[in-house]
Amino acid sequence: MIPNKQVQEILDAVRIEDVVEEFVSLRRRGVNLIGLCPFHNEKTPSFNVNPTRNIFKCFGCGKGGDAVTFLREHENLGYAEALHWLARKYNIEIEEIERSPEQLAEQQLAESLYIVNDFGLQHFQEQLFNTDEGKSVALAYFKQRGLREETIRTFGLGYAPEQRDLLLRRAKATGHNTDLLKKVGLCSQDGGRDFFRGRVMFAIHNLSGKIAAFAGRTMSSDKTIPKYINSPETEIYVKNKTLYGAFQAKKAIRQRDECLLVEGYMDVISLHQAGIENVVASSGTSLTEGQLQLIKRNTGNLKIVYDGDPAGVKAALRGLDLALEQDMNVKICLLPDGHDPDSYVQEFGGEGFTAFTEANSRDFILFKTQLLLNDAQGDPMKRAALVKDIIGSIAKIPDPIKRSVYLKECSALLDVEEQTLHSETNKLITGTIRKQQEKAARRPEAASDSPEMAPDPNFPVAEPEFTARAQEKPMLRGDEFQERDIVRMLVQFGDRMLKEEQVSVAEYILADIEESLGNFDNPVYGKIASECHTLLVEGKVVDQHFFMQHDTQAIRDLAIDLLSAPWELSPNWEERWNYPLQNQKMPELNFDIDMKQALDRFKLRKIQKMCELNLLRIKTSAESGDDDAMMRFMKIQQKLNETRNEIAKRAGTVVLVK
Ligand code: GTP
Ligand code: MN
Repeated sequence: MIPNKQVQEILDAVRIEDVVEEFVSLRRRGVNLIGLCPFHNEKTPSFNVNPTRNIFKCFGCGKGGDAVTFLREHENLGYAEALHWLARKYNIEIEEIERSPEQLAEQQLAESLYIVNDFGLQHFQEQLFNTDEGKSVALAYFKQRGLREETIRTFGLGYAPEQRDLLLRRAKATGHNTDLLKKVGLCSQDGGRDFFRGRVMFAIHNLSGKIAAFAGRTMSSDKTIPKYINSPETEIYVKNKTLYGAFQAKKAIRQRDECLLVEGYMDVISLHQAGIENVVASSGTSLTEGQLQLIKRNTGNLKIVYDGDPAGVKAALRGLDLALEQDMNVKICLLPDGHDPDSYVQEFGGEGFTAFTEANSRDFILFKTQLLLNDAQGDPMKRAALVKDIIGSIAKIPDPIKRSVYLKECSALLDVEEQTLHSETNKLITGTIRKQQEKAARRPEAASDSPEMAPDPNFPVAEPEFTARAQEKPMLRGDEFQERDIVRMLVQFGDRMLKEEQVSVAEYILADIEESLGNFDNPVYGKIASECHTLLVEGKVVDQHFFMQHDTQAIRDLAIDLLSAPWELSPNWEERWNYPLQNQKMPELNFDIDMKQALDRFKLRKIQKMCELNLLRIKTSAESGDDDAMMRFMKIQQKLNETRNEIAKRAGTVVLVK
């Protein structure tokens, strides 16, 4: 672990523009720098770097964050790796401090598992390239399937001969621990024989290129033995978060802004060899949310290329709704009967494959509609179910405009009135929102992790009370507006010093609203305020970094939102008026007044609530004839009123000054 003090030292040294410029060429525009976004494909620059706030934000794809975020996303680094990268760049020497015993044990275990797997790969490669049997059986097999030696090495292919315990004996001779071999599944659980025997081997890499697991393909055509067997799940191999080929594909996926999804190991390898490198495999199972998120980090465009047989289609359909929920554009391309991507590209080459997929890719929702429609021909019951099914998929799309387009096209395809489809979709969405709200009530951060959904207001749902509730959702309710403003001040200026008071903005704010910490209407804002309070009590600072690298996605998103909100005007503004924003008064210069106003508005809301509550108490005690209590509450009321008037007056004055 890097000591906090040094983390701070690194962050203080970092200049976002230095870091970004290592990967993106930037030019100055006004106070900001702009360039072509490295996270999505674009021709005119919408990627902005703001040196004052030390953050980047792309107005095209919405990605944003600080230098650490940039490195994590762009280079696929972990948090600590990103800090090390920055430390190297700024010549800061890091003295790692002790990890907790559990962390240490966990990391040591992971490292030793990788070491055993590395040994496994070496062994399998040695058998493949350097033994007579390997060369004549396995290498010949790969070559006969059209693979070149370079490809075989890139993908870590190998060979496990049909022998009882060849790997085990060699592992023991070189001092490897049998328990670890069992754990990664290279030998049987009784430690008596090798797990992979008589198979060609495929290394499964994690995102940073380490060997997480293996798959072995039988060379026999005997249908009674499994074609592929896999390593078991371990601390370093979590199946539903792994995509075969992702390590070799990630760069190309980003560059082409599209990810091809195929079913098999051989499909990935053959396509890659043919120059189509943006390809990963789900390895025969349906896509999981974790896998989709891996893809989503690099592109929003997914093209599923499967065999044209019914099994391929079924497998593809299963992943669709999940992908739609992630707001991905999903296309499907079915290959001609009898072909899988591997056989197609081996026969027609990379260009032939690309030409075919480009000509035969169809939008997935329309594809599904057409497919089900053929299936339901002449059967009204099936048709009704089909409409429900399609609407179910469309309702998963977070973007209302996209939804609208689909509803229009599906209305034509299905021959059902658009209006009806709209209102049915909205019904489903409001149902989902209700469920999310119920979930949110139980677990504050959960709901905000999923994309915002709102029904299309132009097409009201049959039951008006649901619509009203749902449409409220994206708006801030109760005191949320004032609470958000407090959070904004913490995010934007938390560590700035106030000249007069000689405390930081965060200290000032939290000392001022300490009593209201438990009274936030919005649980996420409340959580942020309380966490900041705890940090300060522990003597730590509340700064941008704390928010940008927070464990909770909703908090990270909120932070980048708050940091770039007033700034989002700039591209248009500058373009239209050719008037650099630096001539405008920057919020940076105004933050102490800004903060005090925000605090006043917040306190006014909270005190207003206390007044109302207290009035209720007065009323109840009067009704029950408890004069003592009533007097006590009336005194409190007087105090509350005074404070409220004082704040109101000040707030009024402040507003006038502005
Ligand atoms: P080739 O037949 O060598 O071209 O392999 P393939 O990758 O084309 O295999 P196939 O299309 O039959 O299967 C697609 C994917 O499903 C494979 O790459 C595996 O990931 C997975 N798969 C297929 N058969 C099995 C099996 O018996 N067990 C397991 N665990 N996975 C399998
Ligand atoms: Mn195949």
